[in-house]
Amino acid sequence: MSQTFPPAILYGADYNPEQWPETVWQEDMRLMKLAGVNMVSINIFSWASLEPRPEEYHFAQLDRIMDLLAEHGIMADLATATASPPTWMSRVYPEMLPVTSSGVRLSHGSRQHYCPNSPDYRRKAAMLVERLAERYHAHPALRMWHVNNELGCHISTCYCDTCAEAFRAWLQERYQSLEELNDSWGTAFWSQHYYAWEDILPPRATPTHHNPGQMLDYWRFMSDSLLSCYRQEAEILRRVTPEVPVTTNFMVAHKPVDGFAWAPHLDIISIDQYPHITDPAWEWALTHDVMRSLKGGRPHLVMEQSASQVNWRPQNPHKRPDVLYLQSMQSVAHGADGVLYFQWRQSKAGAELFHGAMLSHEGSEHTRIFQQVARVGADLQRLSPVVVGSRIENEVALVMDWQNWWAVEYQPAPSDLMRYWEELKASYQALYNLNAGVDVVQPDADLSRYRLVVAPLLFLLRPGAAANLERFVARGGILLTTFFSGIVDERYHVALGGYPGQLRKLLGLRVEEFDPILAEMSNQIVIEEGALKGVYPSSLWGEYLHLEGAQAVGTFASDYYAGRPALTVNSYGAGQAWYLATHASADLLTSLLRHMAEQAHVEPILAAPSGIEVTRRRQPDGSQIYFVLNHTIESARLSLPTGTFRSLLDEREVSGEVEVAPRACVVLLA
Ligand code: GLA
Ligand code: ZN
Repeated sequence: MSQTFPPAILYGADYNPEQWPETVWQEDMRLMKLAGVNMVSINIFSWASLEPRPEEYHFAQLDRIMDLLAEHGIMADLATATASPPTWMSRVYPEMLPVTSSGVRLSHGSRQHYCPNSPDYRRKAAMLVERLAERYHAHPALRMWHVNNELGCHISTCYCDTCAEAFRAWLQERYQSLEELNDSWGTAFWSQHYYAWEDILPPRATPTHHNPGQMLDYWRFMSDSLLSCYRQEAEILRRVTPEVPVTTNFMVAHKPVDGFAWAPHLDIISIDQYPHITDPAWEWALTHDVMRSLKGGRPHLVMEQSASQVNWRPQNPHKRPDVLYLQSMQSVAHGADGVLYFQWRQSKAGAELFHGAMLSHEGSEHTRIFQQVARVGADLQRLSPVVVGSRIENEVALVMDWQNWWAVEYQPAPSDLMRYWEELKASYQALYNLNAGVDVVQPDADLSRYRLVVAPLLFLLRPGAAANLERFVARGGILLTTFFSGIVDERYHVALGGYPGQLRKLLGLRVEEFDPILAEMSNQIVIEEGALKGVYPSSLWGEYLHLEGAQAVGTFASDYYAGRPALTVNSYGAGQAWYLATHASADLLTSLLRHMAEQAHVEPILAAPSGIEVTRRRQPDGSQIYFVLNHTIESARLSLPTGTFRSLLDEREVSGEVEVAPRACVVLLA
């Protein structure tokens, strides 16, 4: 991929001109210029018009759209159109349609109606992508390829016979022999032994619980199947246009798609982000930190956000004034080099006719929403020359592992209330309050640049993970891990001889029992002395644990483990390994992580009052760009380090302190 991408902060939207008469297109161009648009994603749902009959391809309309964009200096993020096959295709290839776990074959009539392993779907998709690549490879508008759309969004799992066959092949490669597979899945249990590969099935509807090894492998297999759809297209595109970056749009907290496993195959990570009106700003931030981290800090893109409303929640209120502005600025503050919307012009028909857009049904620039998006566009253009090329460098990391996510939420388990993303969120919220910047890493990532690492609910430990965490702490790192960690290996086999298995030495403790705390039960964590002194609520989970070198910082207040450790710290090499044996309140997590950050010598980027978020991007020449976002409805003041700063959005010099208006953003260059 060309190293100079993106040339500027990207700003634009999904653009669906095929839904409109061509007379509207010129007006679109005029208004796009007014809004500051420089890139649009096109052709996402155009397969039906590109191939109206088998192998009869029509590109004339797409030619005109590409030419129009080139003429107006708007870059095309050209989609491969494979997300919604034409209706005739399900008649010609009925086995291409996906099947649910209960055996129901789904129909066309919405979108994403294909089995990711269907050879017919794959062949037809490849043929279309070949033609698109050949036709547009030298087109001046082409600047990025957009493979498919939200792979695995509606159909993340298919249970058809084709998938069953592909699953068997995947398993043969993983296990080589049936003996290995039987051992790994623990099929000595419930008479589940497999004597022939052809007897192995996807986890279809069964009388009761599925085998956990089979379930975990099916998650892995389906993520790989969807990735293989992506890779088939990306390989064609790279062969024809090696210099054009390739992406596909991810979704927030999307359990089925292992972002870390996919990331090496994408040139640029992109994300569709639709926060609910009640989601706090730290949650929006978490998404960006995950996405930026997938490629080790390389800038990501917001491929879609809503300018106002969505249409798919039960009720869809508008974004409040200035929230869109803050969300857009926050994306860039957390490392994005582009912000695009779904979509440019609000549809007049179809299932998304009430979804917001940059241009609403009224169709004019004189709306509140258009004014907002034009303001965002203008400010991104102001930041662009300084911001593009800069990177974020952090000293704090949150550990995330998709395989652990799949494993920890398997049922039956001690509690059906375990939610990995919720535990990640709880830790992230506390880290966010430090205003120090957070990366998100896998358990086996190189941790040498971090001082503070938080690995919540690390139930499944993949090979090398425990040793990696040990190395981190031994050389002086400060680690926190939480309840129900170190319990199973990657085959979903329990670590025998005392929990938390491979983490026991590092944490200096042994967990004898774990015990879900029901909503009608209650317990507390009592901390009798020190910086964290107090009594804090404990919920969801309790443990009966023994110290093996660690110190108890806090203890459970009641029940049969009253007085036993709930929060511990173990000195290990030059560092400390902390363990929290329950789900703690936001209060305690915030104080605990503040205390740990002090121990780790992690400083806030700038000291800021609550509700004020600060991030920093650095240019290779050492210049620093501070983003100060005021998420409150009061104006705020912040002291600045010595020196003079250039305020990029209003071109003034600032020193000493800076004022940030309610729901506004100040960007300072040092
Ligand atoms: C997803 C899809 C878009 C559109 C939006 C609506 O992100 O990629 O095509 O359906 O949702 O929010
Ligand atoms: Zn299938």
